[in-house]
Amino acid sequence: MRRSVAIFLLINVAIVIYLVSSVWTLLSLLVVDGSADAISRAELPGPASSSPTGDRKELIPRIIHQTYVNESIPPHWEEARQSCLALHKDWEYNLWTDKKARDFIAQEYPWFLETFDGYTYPIQRADAIRYFVLAHFGGIYLDLDDGCNRRLDPLLTYPAWLRRTVPTGISNDAMGAVPHHPFFLRVIDALPRYDKHWMLPYITVMGSTGPLFLSIIWRHYNVDLGAELEMERVRVLMPDEYVGNSWSFFTHHLGNSWHQGDVKMILWMRDHWVFLLILGFFIAGVVFFSAWSIYKRFLRYRSTAGAHAFNFTKRIPFLNEAAAEGYELLNRGRPQREHEV
Ligand SMILES: *[C@@H]1O[C@H](CO)[C@@H](O)[C@H](O)[C@H]1NC(C)=O
Repeated sequence: MRRSVAIFLLINVAIVIYLVSSVWTLLSLLVVDGSADAISRAELPGPASSSPTGDRKELIPRIIHQTYVNESIPPHWEEARQSCLALHKDWEYNLWTDKKARDFIAQEYPWFLETFDGYTYPIQRADAIRYFVLAHFGGIYLDLDDGCNRRLDPLLTYPAWLRRTVPTGISNDAMGAVPHHPFFLRVIDALPRYDKHWMLPYITVMGSTGPLFLSIIWRHYNVDLGAELEMERVRVLMPDEYVGNSWSFFTHHLGNSWHQGDVKMILWMRDHWVFLLILGFFIAGVVFFSAWSIYKRFLRYRSTAGAHAFNFTKRIPFLNEAAAEGYELLNRGRPQREHEV
């Protein structure tokens, strides 16, 4: 009995080591908070400051990119969009409609067109196009539900930045970069490799193009970065500077009345992927301990009803070996137990 238990545990330990190493990046996302690369509020001029970028040079071009199906922006997002347009009249503005996005990919990145067209969910295309336009033109990408609380000039002084989400990870709803920044080049290069179907649509969207995908690339990028070249660094906009304070850059508009069940669920899961990740590990733990208790009961059953177990295992060839071992152990069982007492 004890040898079978040891084998069971050994196999499980091997499985756990394999699983942990294959999700190591995900686990590290639970503890890496991006504070090392945070855009410090101390270095940000106030919204009404007489020197809008401090003494820092603007690096990112003055362009705002947004995406929507077509040019008819729903009224509940128009307010948010106008708040940004009104503050940045001297900036270029690009609305990437579905048609414009596809034409752009077909012309500039033909190697990606097959993946782009092949995405099951339109939201995957909306995710992907934002990485391509940032890699290509540079500028600032904003989701349509992000309004502007102040001018974004200070955010142009970093070569690249992403937005931190709570409690961990980063999102893809507001981000900026200079053209051809190595991080976004890496992101677009990785997209075809991450185009995989997971069982649930929500996980597929998050893991193939969404915030989870971006967070994983971000982790790999930072681990590989090594030498800290300022131009290669990806800075992180922290929650307090993102929204909710007088000095924050953005306002959040939750006008998502058009969201049908599926889209709503996808968006919810995109925003709560950390919670889902923890839930996943919890379920894995439950599965492990269930397997363990079933196996324990199986062994006990065999040792109390030997003949029955023999008939049972004879029909399942791969169990024969285990059965033979079980008998061997059963025969030695009693003396061993006496030793233990
Ligand atoms: C734009 O897209 C929306 C949502 O799919 C649709 O309801 C609307 O009819 C479209 N407008 C035009 C002008 O095609």
